[in-house]
Amino acid sequence: MIQGKWFSPGDDLSSVLSVREAVLGFGTDSLDPESWNVLVFEDSIPAATGRIWWKDGSFWLGDIAVVESRRGRHLGDLVLRLLLYKAQSHSAREVRLRCPRDLTGFFSRLGLREDASPESDPVEMMIPGEQIDLDTCSRCPKKNCPNRQPG
Ligand SMILES: CC(C)(COP(=O)(O)OP(=O)(O)OC[C@H]1O[C@@H](n2cnc3c(N)ncnc32)[C@H](O)[C@@H]1OP(=O)(O)O)[C@@H](O)C(=O)NCCC(=O)NCCS
Repeated sequence: MIQGKWFSPGDDLSSVLSVREAVLGFGTDSLDPESWNVLVFEDSIPAATGRIWWKDGSFWLGDIAVVESRRGRHLGDLVLRLLLYKAQSHSAREVRLRCPRDLTGFFSRLGLREDASPESDPVEMMIPGEQIDLDTCSRCPKKNCPNRQPG
């Protein structure tokens, strides 16, 4: 079973940090006291995490990390969707992130676009709040899927 849990600024982050440290190689930092962290469990085991914070008029997300043995099963996608949903539910004007150039495809699937020099690495990406679309069907090319709503 897949479950998600949010951690508000000031919460005990030990379970979040176990994933972040294993995947990204760093633990808590000065951003955590102002971030919302999310942790996704697979069969009650911490499997994926990420965080979102507000700075200078934008929501920023980052440090998405999926335990290596659990990649390729859409847990990273779920973390990204949870972070975008958090921004959307706070009426975000825009959401930004910085990522290595080889990850832009992962983020562009949900509408984030490069927003800085095309040569830069890491790349800065952005999506206006009103363009956040978490409907799984809206970008899917399948025409006759039984899940698709008529209309
Ligand atoms: C990047 C990462 C979070 C992806 O997590 P994941 O759970 O393996 O990815 P998902 O299974 O959710 O992938 C969802 C979709 O994105 C695609 N995708 C994954 N990585 C991608 C990449 N680098 N470029 C383009 N598409 C990518 C998948 O193919 C999948 O596509 P589909 O919906 O057509 O099947 C994970 O590989 C990871 O933790 N990497 C190391 C840490 C890292 O670099 N974090 C990013 C910091 S900004």
